[in-house]
Amino acid sequence: PVIAKVYNVSQIESDLAAHLQIARAVIVPGNTDVQPHLSKSLGDALNDALKLLLPLGRNIITVFGGVTMSSVASQLSPTLNRHRDLLFVPGRGGLGESVEIQSNTVCQMMANSTHSHYRTLYLPENVSSEAMKSLIKDENIGDVLDFISNSDAVIHSIGDAQIMAKRRGLSLETRSMLTDKKAVAECFGYFFNQQSQMIYKIPRIGLQLEDLNRIPRVFAVAAGQSKALAIEAYMKHAPSQSWLITDEGAANSILKGK
Ligand code: G3H
Repeated sequence: PVIAKVYNVSQIESDLAAHLQIARAVIVPGNTDVQPHLSKSLGDALNDALKLLLPLGRNIITVFGGVTMSSVASQLSPTLNRHRDLLFVPGRGGLGESVEIQSNTVCQMMANSTHSHYRTLYLPENVSSEAMKSLIKDENIGDVLDFISNSDAVIHSIGDAQIMAKRRGLSLETRSMLTDKKAVAECFGYFFNQQSQMIYKIPRIGLQLEDLNRIPRVFAVAAGQSKALAIEAYMKHAPSQSWLITDEGAANSILKGK
């Protein structure tokens, strides 16, 4: 049934994509907040979208971390790798985040599920620009950063600002600044308020928001009514080729508020 959803766009899916000004919204039934097993449907929908959009041959896919990403990773199928040669690379360095949900782990899970290849990137975040300059000179790190900038696709999620600020270990001072400025969304280390203004960015190397514009395929997977504000706040910055894979909980809440 999910395959049918990817090909046949429902009215609510086309309304949501038009409202968010993105290429496509795929909406799975239910609300992930109260039905965590929906991650299976989200994963199936992501798999179908990748099958539809990834060209045959070599594809470099940059993936980010988080609970959503790690819960959809096992749904990707080995048939995705048929007539393709997929290489999954992590979009973040990972150090400082819990291992189960860091992008390195999601990368490895996606590569295992699809019987394809992956690379790892272990880099601290929040380091001085001097330290970063010398880290980038490392050959292994430099190779992965080249892969990231030449990605054929990016897969990421969108998080609640306060939850992500805590998880990313931001200082109490920064967290209270984010509260004062009413941050609602976090994506790739960027924080946005409800008016979609960027109010903070965690200094880090790897994929930057402006780089997304030149990545041909971008998939955001974020669901649950509780993520509606975050999804909408981030999406004003999403490149127009983005696909959003979400659920009715988030979609209905976004469309109700428009
Ligand atoms: O940047 C946002 C996070 O990847 C979202 O993480 O799926 O754990 O809410 P989450």
